[in-house]
Amino acid sequence: MNIRSEIKKIEDKIIKWRRDFHKYPELSFQEIRTADQITKELKSMGLEPKINVGRTGVTADLKFGDGPMIGLRADMDALPIQETSGLEFASKNNGVMHACGHDGHIAMLLGTAYVLTQNKYPYQGTIRFIFQPAEEGEGGARYMIEDGCLNDLDQIYGIHVWNYQALGEVGVKAGPIMASADMFDIKIKGIGGHGAAPQGTVDTIIVASYLVQALQTIVSRNTNPLESTVITIGKINGGHNFNIIADQVSLSGTTRAYTESNRNLIKSRMKEIISGVAETYNAEIILDYKDGYPPTINHLEPSQLVLEAAQKVVGEKAGPPYLSMGGEDFAYYLQKIPGCFFFIGSAPNKNKLFETPHHCSHFNMDEQALLVGPSVYLNLIDKIMGN
Ligand code: NI
Repeated sequence: MNIRSEIKKIEDKIIKWRRDFHKYPELSFQEIRTADQITKELKSMGLEPKINVGRTGVTADLKFGDGPMIGLRADMDALPIQETSGLEFASKNNGVMHACGHDGHIAMLLGTAYVLTQNKYPYQGTIRFIFQPAEEGEGGARYMIEDGCLNDLDQIYGIHVWNYQALGEVGVKAGPIMASADMFDIKIKGIGGHGAAPQGTVDTIIVASYLVQALQTIVSRNTNPLESTVITIGKINGGHNFNIIADQVSLSGTTRAYTESNRNLIKSRMKEIISGVAETYNAEIILDYKDGYPPTINHLEPSQLVLEAAQKVVGEKAGPPYLSMGGEDFAYYLQKIPGCFFFIGSAPNKNKLFETPHHCSHFNMDEQALLVGPSVYLNLIDKIMGN
């Protein structure tokens, strides 16, 4: 690997930052200490950070001269998980853990800012460091956008450490890279009765059983098999007792798609199937469909630039990522301006890639990955702002 020498020099600093944020994780929109620490570090680098952007976010601009303006974004929230990693720098906050690697994202972006402020580069342009709250479900990106974090920006870039790929790999591609993540609740209402006398009732458990299976046919029969989609019903509630016909069942689930057209297809077919099932069984079925994050769709030219910047670090190990159907609110930025979201391989054990998945209580990363990300960023800035 060709780690940039400026980054290699501050390896201890980057790892120290990551471990400190890991030790004191904070949930979405509660990133108070986190934002304070970031602000303090940025100030000590000579930057003038803006605070309370998008509630608990922080941004800072570094101007080198006239030229393009690019944003580099790190998310900074943790998850409601009790850490079981046993690490010496494990979470001190009960029930809260950096189990997705956002601690590493903060450290990488601080490292990038440090190197850019402490060295002389012949750049033409401005870099905005964007520390965003609440990626895990609350869509902090939308609040950052409302508060103007994209104003004047030409492009935006973001990194995720990625335990599904080995250290020394960088996953990047143009087009969809993360899925849409919508949620839904379904309420089925019928007429209950005695378990021995189904006549005259509308058994909502029968209706629910049928509906769960029918909804899966959207994925298996309606969408193009070459385009990934997921419908998951994760929760069913209903019924009173073994000998009572249930008058109400509720279901909750999520849908995932890589394109807006599949996302809309799923939504419209759900409505059609639900109304058909309701009619078939004489039940009342109410769908409450909530739009979550849109698909994250990388733009062509920025993705090409990242690929070239990454190739300088990891050679041919830069390429198509290990994809998941996870969602990411970086999608909102990419709906507004061109940019690219990419993955830095960070699996702690390259022979057992799935042993430490994101969002698990023993999550950890290979901290050497935290040198790869900033190296890619520096190469990228060379390309965009160099002479
Ligand atoms: Ni994440």
